[in-house]
This record gives sequence, C-alpha cells and structure tokens, in this order.
Amino acid sequence: MGGIPHDHYEPKAGWEKGLAKRLPIVGLLYDTLMIPTPKNLNWMWIWGIVLTFCLALQIITGIVLVMHYTPHVDHAFASIEHIMRNVNGGHMLRYLHMNGASLFFFAVYIHIFRGLYYGSYKAPREITWIIGMLIYLMMMGTAFMGYVLPWGQMSFWGATVITGLFGAIPFVGEPIQTWLLGGPAVDNATLNRFFSLHYLLPFVIAALVALHIWAFHTTGNNNPTGVEVRRGSKAEAEKDTVPFWPYFVIKDLFALAVILVVFFAIVGFMPNYLGHPDNYIEANALATPAHIVPEWYFLPFYAILRAFTSEVWIVQLASFVTGGIIDAKFFGVLAMFGAIAVMALAPWLDTSMVRSGRYRPMFKWWFWLLVIDFIVLMWLGARPAEEPYATYSLIASAYWFAYFLVILPLLGVIEKPLAQPDTIEDDFNAHYGKSAEPAE
Ligand code: HEM
Repeated sequence: MGGIPHDHYEPKAGWEKGLAKRLPIVGLLYDTLMIPTPKNLNWMWIWGIVLTFCLALQIITGIVLVMHYTPHVDHAFASIEHIMRNVNGGHMLRYLHMNGASLFFFAVYIHIFRGLYYGSYKAPREITWIIGMLIYLMMMGTAFMGYVLPWGQMSFWGATVITGLFGAIPFVGEPIQTWLLGGPAVDNATLNRFFSLHYLLPFVIAALVALHIWAFHTTGNNNPTGVEVRRGSKAEAEKDTVPFWPYFVIKDLFALAVILVVFFAIVGFMPNYLGHPDNYIEANALATPAHIVPEWYFLPFYAILRAFTSEVWIVQLASFVTGGIIDAKFFGVLAMFGAIAVMALAPWLDTSMVRSGRYRPMFKWWFWLLVIDFIVLMWLGARPAEEPYATYSLIASAYWFAYFLVILPLLGVIEKPLAQPDTIEDDFNAHYGKSAEPAE
C-alpha cells in the first residue's frame, strides 16, 4: 500500500531551494503538518496530542525541578520540601509534574482503549502499535522511578516491593535484584541510579514517539470506520481527508484547552488528591506502612500481580509441573508482564476481517466488558489482599487474559459483521450531510 497522494512542499525562494538541497527539513515539516487526515476522525483521536503535550510538560517541569532537587538519601526528602516552600513557584512546578504524570496515564489508557475498539492495531499498523506498547512500558518504568525520588515512605516501600519482584525470578533473581538496586536493599545507590534513569527515559520516549508518528504517517491514520482512505488518485484521497493543518490542529488544541481547564483545577485545588499521604513522611527502613499501594495507574496490573496466590489451582499446577521453579510470586510476576504482552500481541490474536468495533456487534459487548474489567482491576489493586477481593481479582485477571487469548481469536470466526460504508466520504456525509465540506 502506497502513501496517501497529496501535495508536497515546493521550495520557491532561492534560499529555500538552497536549503532543500542541503537539508530538506522544511519539506519534512510541511509534509508532517499537511498530512492528509481522515475527515471523519472523532474526539477519540485527540489523545495523541494530549500525550505529546504531557511528555513536553513532564520534560520541562522535570528539568527545572532537577535544578533544586538533591538525589541523596540524606537530602532528597528535604530538597522536595525546599522546592515546595522556598523555590519561587516551586509547589506549582512540583504539582504540575506530579499530576502531569496522572494526566499522561489517563490519556494513554484512553488512547490504548481507542486503538483496541477501532482496531487501530490491525494490519498495516502493527508497528505503530508495538512502538506504542514500548512507549507504555517506558512510561511505567519512568513513573515508577520518579516516584522513588521524593524519598517518602511510599517511595521507599513501593521500590522495595517492586524491585523484590525481580528476586522472584528463578536462579538469577537475586543477583538481578542486587544489580538493579546497586546493593542488597533500596538505598542511596538505588536512589541515584533511579534518578539518572528517570531523567534519561523521557528522552528515549520522545525518540520512540517520533518513530510512532512516522509509522502512522506511513500507513495513514485509522479512523472510526476502519475503512482505508482511497489512494487511487489525489482527487479521490481528497474526498476522504482534510489536511492536518489547520483542521485537526485547531480541533486538537480546543480539546487540549478543555482538558487543561480540568487539569489546572486539580493542580490548583486538589493537587494531592491522587497521591498517598504516607509519602509526606520521610522514608524509614524500620517502619513498614500498613498498606503499600502503588499510584492509581499501576493498580490494574498490581491487582493481576497479587491475584495468583499459592491457593490458586493454576499456580499449584505450574509449580508441580516445573518442580517448584515457578512459585506463586514468580507466577504473579509472569502474569503481570503477560497481561501487557497479550495486549501487545492483539494485532495477531484478532482474527476478524473487520477493523472497527462499530461494525462488530458481538465484539462491542466483550470490549466494553474489558473496559469495566480494567476499572474493576484498578479498584481491586487498592483493596487489601484478602477475601472477597482475592477471588474478584482472580476472576477479573482471568477475563483480561481470556479477552485477548480466547475471545479475540474466536470472535473473528463466529461473528457476522455489519455492513461497512464503502468510503470515509460516505460515512462523513451520513453523519454531517454533504454540505459539511471544508471551506476552500
Ligand atoms: C507518549 C505516548 C504517546 C504519544 C505521544 C502518542 C501519539 C500519538 C498520536 C499523535 C497519534 C495520532 C493521533 C491520535 O490518535 O491521537 C497516535 C496514534 C496511535 N497510537 Fe499513539 N501515542 C502514544 C502512546 C501510544 C500507546 C501506549 C499506544 C498503544 C500501544 C499507542 C497506539 C497508537 C495507535 C495504534 C495509533 C494509530 C491510530 C491511528 O492510526 O489513527 N500510542 N499516537
């Protein structure tokens, strides 16, 4: 499949031609900004821009925070208090960074579920999807390490629990854990390396975002119908698309503005709502908090991690078959990473010929159940590890795996899809009428 035919940048002035011969950067920017974009994109397509904004916000606020932060166990907690009390605008800076992480994950979850509903992961967009999954993993690593930096009680104990998971890997677990921590326990060496990586990873994410955008600019965007843009000629493609600038730039900026109203209300009026009060107590290796709870965005996968206890038959079976090499703890770790791995494999597990969930009557129900399942898992991740939550967690975790490993492959075979529109233009006209053509 070739790219969508469209006008390219033509250098006019002498200096433009000179630059184009040496470094065709204006042409690249022009093609990126003027890319033909399906004209029927709905509000679910704004989240990519919100994510780009979040990445920029985190990098900018982070760089200024670092100017006042000290990555040492004796000073880290106090340096955060110093930022909050003495640095000009410091509390704002910190609250923007803290809540910016939450907005980042909120946006990424909607972005991912959008992709799952509209089948954006399906061919030919598998690479966009896989790069997205890598970005998501990096985001999790970055957020986890960032949370350790203020050196509060949850920072310390969260880091202890999560790095402890690596110790569950058979044979090589303990050396890996020691290597990660830089010693036998979470201490100054850990804080230092987490600081270093927390600073580095957002730039790796930025590079991956560039690849992500390059990938979906190569295939063209998906859209709510899942029907591809016609590429026979430029005239035909123009019936299905509008240039990204100005149409979607304005739409995306409007959406971003509305979201930022809510975001700033949270940053201004309830900045600690999503945080844990224990993180305002300095880390103490001798006092374990009653409940160690990760940040809200980790809770669904934390619930999956804890769901597989030694009471569960499948864990007992795995332990028996492997002669005890896979115990409950290691099984939990495998399940947690496996939950993300099965999502990454969606392009190959979904057997349906139809891309968009709009035209898949059975799929729709299972998809919304997956969304509910995710929210329930998030709720369960914050509950104590006891009955009835343990059983609920097991059921909810089982559904997560069943959706990707059983339901997606089966639905493609048994489902009878609805009729799809022939073209994006047809869908657009059906929604907005023929008169809604963009102005010349
Ligand atoms: C820093 C994080 C990310 C940024 C900045 C980002 C940015 C974008 C942008 C700007 C778009 C196009 C417009 C839109 O759909 O909003 C897009 C599309 C897409 N993203 Fe992401 N993304 C990120 C993370 C992810 C993740 C974690 C996934 C899931 C694996 C993902 C999967 C996709 C897919 C499949 C598309 C194609 C949709 C289409 O063709 O319309 N992205 N992304």
